[in-house]
Amino acid sequence: MSTIKAADPTLPDDVILAVENLEVCFASQGRQPIRAVNGISFTIARGETLVLVGESGSGKSVTAMTLMRLTEHDGARITGGRILMRLKDGKVSDLTKLSLKGIELLRGYEMSIVFQDPMSSLNPVFTIGDQTAEAIIRHQGKTKREARDIALGVLKLVRVPDAARRLDQYAHQLSGGMRQRVMIAMALACRPSLMILDEPTTALDVTIQAQILDLVRALQREIGMSVLFITHDMGVVAEIADRVCVMLKGDIVETGSVYEIFAAPKHPYTQALISAVPRLGSMVEKDAPEKFPLVVYEPTQKLAETTA
Ligand SMILES: Nc1ncnc2c1ncn2[C@@H]1O[C@H](COP(=O)(O)OP(=O)(O)OP(=O)(O)O)[C@@H](O)[C@H]1O
Ligand SMILES: [Mg+2]
Repeated sequence: MSTIKAADPTLPDDVILAVENLEVCFASQGRQPIRAVNGISFTIARGETLVLVGESGSGKSVTAMTLMRLTEHDGARITGGRILMRLKDGKVSDLTKLSLKGIELLRGYEMSIVFQDPMSSLNPVFTIGDQTAEAIIRHQGKTKREARDIALGVLKLVRVPDAARRLDQYAHQLSGGMRQRVMIAMALACRPSLMILDEPTTALDVTIQAQILDLVRALQREIGMSVLFITHDMGVVAEIADRVCVMLKGDIVETGSVYEIFAAPKHPYTQALISAVPRLGSMVEKDAPEKFPLVVYEPTQKLAETTA
């Protein structure tokens, strides 16, 4: 990292994204700006899943949205730091320096984001096929026909059953889990190197949550992309993470592999998160994080069962 020069950023070969001392502030009328992200640094390697975990308001979404330069639409400013990304052409770009046009070209193509609520991200008046094809036409210059074929391919990739029929359906005709699959398909349409998922399973019931986590894992193996996954749920962390950054009040207070975070949490806040996980001992005999039961899902499961 010490070799990076401001004029000509470089990254180690296996690193796809490096966030360096990123600071994000929101203007607040007549008062001091609110600093939502307080000079954080992390890297994401090729094919890696990095999870940002932390309590509500700790700055997870602001971090994710700032990587795509989306927080600026909400009145935020990047007041410090760099976001270095390795683009598909091999060049390394500091995303904080890009023009709005430059960042628009990058969104969906180099990096894409999936939000918690697919209903507010999907357009109700366009078919699933048209919405999925849109990014393909925009970024890859394909014809409508070609884009529709690629859209069908990505819907199949995310295991949407009866994908050909779904192309002509509208968002309201799909279940919550299916909508989230479609969002992931749209995010994948241009094969970005990095997919950001901001609490993608929080609004889903427990069975569908588990299916979406499995899907993200499988896709990652199949297409080798990097994932930045955001959650406040330690069960999800255990299920999906390679590495974990723990956020607290705009800072990253601890970074480690999923094994380190669960086996030997160092920061008191991480220790508190881990101690809040029921039946932590059940992971001791397991050799892989995905074998860890989604313990924090249990209250939801009971709720689902009692209300079914
Ligand atoms: N549009 C906004 N205007 C002003 N301040 C904001 C805005 N969005 C976020 N913030 C500030 O940034 C902080 C971090 O918010 P952020 O949405 O990143 O939290 P989070 O970790 O994603 O929480 P959650 O788990 O609830 O989604 C908030 O506490 C708030 O002070
Ligand atoms: Mg959030």
